[in-house]
Amino acid sequence: MLPTIAREEDVVVMIDQRKLPAAEVYVRCKTAAEVARAIKTMVIRGAPAIGVAAAMGIALGMRKSTATGTQKFAAEFYKTCEMMAATRPTAVNLFWAIERMKQAFATAAKAGESVDQIKDRLDREAEAIHDEDVASCRAMGAFGAEVVPAEARILTHCNAGALATAGYGTALGVIRGAIEAGKRVAVFADETRPFLQGARLTAWELVRDGIETTVITDNMSGALMRQGKVDLVVVGADRIAANGDTANKIGTYGVAVLAREHQIPFYVAAPLSTIDLSTPDGSGIPIEERSAKEVTHVGGAQLAPEGALVWNPAFDVTPHHFIAGIITERGICRAPYGESLRRAVAGG
Ligand code: MRU
Repeated sequence: MLPTIAREEDVVVMIDQRKLPAAEVYVRCKTAAEVARAIKTMVIRGAPAIGVAAAMGIALGMRKSTATGTQKFAAEFYKTCEMMAATRPTAVNLFWAIERMKQAFATAAKAGESVDQIKDRLDREAEAIHDEDVASCRAMGAFGAEVVPAEARILTHCNAGALATAGYGTALGVIRGAIEAGKRVAVFADETRPFLQGARLTAWELVRDGIETTVITDNMSGALMRQGKVDLVVVGADRIAANGDTANKIGTYGVAVLAREHQIPFYVAAPLSTIDLSTPDGSGIPIEERSAKEVTHVGGAQLAPEGALVWNPAFDVTPHHFIAGIITERGICRAPYGESLRRAVAGG
């Protein structure tokens, strides 16, 4: 399976997603601060992968702590959590993973564990978050396969694949699950301006798996749908509000509107760690704005003149009524999402 991120004794290793597909380079982070920087600069990206990276970064940082007393160790731990939380604001998986690490810490403190025992517990928790993410993706793949026709042309946006998770992927997990279930699937990958996750990352991992992939620029999906060449849309998510409104990579909303116009089912695939029941609807989801240079330049080449203003939101929100279903590791949630998401999160 594709190695998105792994923990070694004293480093967190991740494939550098900024360099793909031209080069397969691995970044070795030796400190929690290096992991935080890798998240911020998008060496690693994708909501679940960011959560896993934060957990591993916290465990790594605390493993390297020289504190001998639990009080100093606790102060360092909470500072490290804060640093991770300040990396990217939209993907709720980041905050979910930090919260899990805090809970593990609190359990250890309550049990009166030593600094060394807490370090071991944090390592185990980060590893569990990693392994559970792969298992969730595989479960999503199996559930999602049910909505894929025997022969399907699927459009996806951004990269919600193995690279965006600990492995297998959410939206691409559904595609992999459908293929494993014996279906014939061809994929259309939106290039996904400005960071080009679709053209660079989705196409790279699908081609590597031998899955037929056609890259289109973002402004081609309407014409493609109008020609009847798309049977299904499946995308990932960075944060799903309690009512089902879904934040995902900028451009997703436009794809959802086009899919509705052409009566093409539009599905979201995301683990329960992406569902944020504390945010009632999409208007409360913080949207990250990234540097103007991502828009004005491509691969170092200048496209737009100096002096031009730039708007560069990294995500948009698709209102719940455009979504045919939200595929999770506990099954497919349908409207009304207020009820179905709450039930899924509660374990029902
Ligand atoms: O800015 P990114 O690349 O981290 O954004 C990622 C996306 O929007 C993905 O589509 C989403 O996280 C789903 S990842 C399984």
